Amino acid sequence: MSSHSKRRRTFAIISHPDAGKTTLTEKLLLAGGAIHMAGAVKTRGDQRRARSDWMKIEQDRGISVTSSVMTFEYQGLICNLLDTPGHEDFSEDTYRTLTAVDSAIMVIDAAKGIEQQTRKLFEVCRLRDIPIITYINKLDREGRDAFELLDEIQETLTLDIAPMVWPIGMGTDFRGCYDLSRDEFLTSDVSGGAFNKTVDCKDTGLAGLGELVSENIASTAIENIELAREAYSDFDAEAYQAGYLTPVIFGSALKGYGVKSLIDLIAAEAPDPRPSPAEPRTVQPEEDKVTGFVFKVQANMDKNHRDRVAFMRLCSGHFRRGMKIKQVRTGKDLMVHSPIMFLAQDREIVADAAPGDVIGIPNHGTVRVGDTFSEGEDLRFTGIPVFAPEILRRVRLGDTTRIKQLRGALEDLAEEGLIQVFKPSLGANWVVGVVGVLQLDVLKDRARNEYRIEIDFEGLPYELACWLRCEDHKVLETFMTGQRNAIVTDRDGDPVFLAKSEWEYNYLKDKNPDIHFLKVKELG
Ligand code: G4P
Repeated sequence: MSSHSKRRRTFAIISHPDAGKTTLTEKLLLAGGAIHMAGAVKTRGDQRRARSDWMKIEQDRGISVTSSVMTFEYQGLICNLLDTPGHEDFSEDTYRTLTAVDSAIMVIDAAKGIEQQTRKLFEVCRLRDIPIITYINKLDREGRDAFELLDEIQETLTLDIAPMVWPIGMGTDFRGCYDLSRDEFLTSDVSGGAFNKTVDCKDTGLAGLGELVSENIASTAIENIELAREAYSDFDAEAYQAGYLTPVIFGSALKGYGVKSLIDLIAAEAPDPRPSPAEPRTVQPEEDKVTGFVFKVQANMDKNHRDRVAFMRLCSGHFRRGMKIKQVRTGKDLMVHSPIMFLAQDREIVADAAPGDVIGIPNHGTVRVGDTFSEGEDLRFTGIPVFAPEILRRVRLGDTTRIKQLRGALEDLAEEGLIQVFKPSLGANWVVGVVGVLQLDVLKDRARNEYRIEIDFEGLPYELACWLRCEDHKVLETFMTGQRNAIVTDRDGDPVFLAKSEWEYNYLKDKNPDIHFLKVKELG
C-alpha cells in the first residue's frame, strides 16, 4: 500500500504550559517508533518555550520548524501530530493550528485541573466541534482526587466523561493504571517505577488487583472504579466524534503510563480527516481534486535565502510532487517542486500526500496564512481566525532611509501571522498590533537580525482594535470621517477602528447599531 492511501490521524495536543505536553509528545513519538530516545524532541519547559517561541537564536529556527508537525506511523496509520506553541502570547498561532486538525488531546495536570490556557484552547476546539481525548497527567505525584477532576471537566467544560484508564493509587502510592476496556493492569516490576508490565485481568476482573497491589490500595481502587463505572458514561464513539463526550485516560507521561492506551485510542477511535468548511461549499476528503489551506507560515529559516515555508493542510485529493496548484486569493498558479514533510527529526521532500497531511511549501513570500489552494476551483476555506490585537504600538525607525526595508519586514512578518500591520489614514507611521508583548520583542529582534533595521515602539492612546463592517456604505463613511484619527486599514484594505478603551468600544457599538465592530476576522 503506498503511503497516500493509508489512513490518517491528524491531531494536536493542547494544554496549559507545564502540564506535560512535551513529555507526552516524546512518549507518543517513541510509541510510534519515530524517535529512539526520549528527550530527543526538544528541551522542556521554559527553556524550550524561549526557544521555539522567542525564536531569538537563528540555529534554533530549525528546531521550531521541524517540531511544528511530526509525522510517524502507528499500526499502519499515518499520524500527523501538530505542535502548538506553549506561551499564551503566541496563542493565535495555536488557534490557527487547531483549524488544521481533526482531533485533539487535552493534557491536564492532576494537581491543577483545568487551567486558564486549557480552557481557552478548549473553547476553540468546541467552536469547531473537535473531538477531544483527555489525558490527566502526573499521577505519580500527589494530585487532586480523580472524581473531583472528572467533575470539574464535566461541569466547567460541559462534556460527558467516559473514563477509559483509571489510576491505581496516586503519588507515593501510585502502582499503575487499570485499562477499563481491556481489563488490563498497567504496572511496573519496581514499585513506583516506569511502566514496563501489563497484567491481563480478563479472567479475574478487578478482583485480580488484590493479588497485585497491597490490599489497601486495591480495595480503594476497586471501589472507585466501580463507582466511576456507575457515575460516568460508557465510551460512545459517536458522541466523542461529535465533540460531546471525552474519553479520559489517567496516566503519567514521565513514567510512560497510559501512553499506549492513548495512542491505541487515537488509532481506533479518533476521526479520519473530516470534511472542511469552505465557501461556497464544504469540501469532502474523498474528492479527487487537491485542495488545502495554509495555517502557518514560517519565514527566514535560511537567513541567506530569505526563504519561507508555508504549512498547508491538505483537505482533499492526492497531492503529487511537482503539481501545479492555484492560489485562489491571487488567481496565480504555484508549482510545488519540493514539498516538505516533517518527520520527527528530519524534514524530507515527499513524493505524494493525502488529505490530513501537512506539507511545507517553500516560497519567496507569496503565500499567506489563510490562503486556499485548489486545482482551479474558486474555493475559500473558512474559519481561520485572526484576532483583534490588544496591544497597539506605533513603529519608529532609527534610520529613516531604511523605510523600504521596514515595509518589507512588516509585510513579511504580518504574512507569517506574527504581527498585524495597520496603515493610519492620517500620518505615515505604521501601527503594529499584537496579542502578547513577547511578540513585540520578537519583532524587534527579527527586524534587527534578518532585515538589519533598528526599530522601536511608541505607545498609542488606544487599547483595542476591531474591524468595521456595515451593509450601508454611507453610514460607515460618516462614522469613519468622524473618527478619522482612530481609523486605520489592515493589509487587506479593510477598515479598522482603534478604541481608547473597552468602554469607548462598547459605547460606540451601542450608538452605531448598524455597524459591526468585530473582534475576530476570518482570513482567506
Ligand atoms: P509542557 O510541554 O506542557 O510545558 O510540559 P513539559 O512536558 O515540559 O513538562 C513540564 C514539567 O512536568 C517537566 O518538569 C516534566 O518533567 C514534568 N512532567 C511531565 N510529565 C510528568 C509526569 O507524568 N510526572 C511527573 N512527576 N512530572 C512530569 P520540569 O521540572 O520542568 O523539567 P525536568 O527538570 O523535570 O525535566
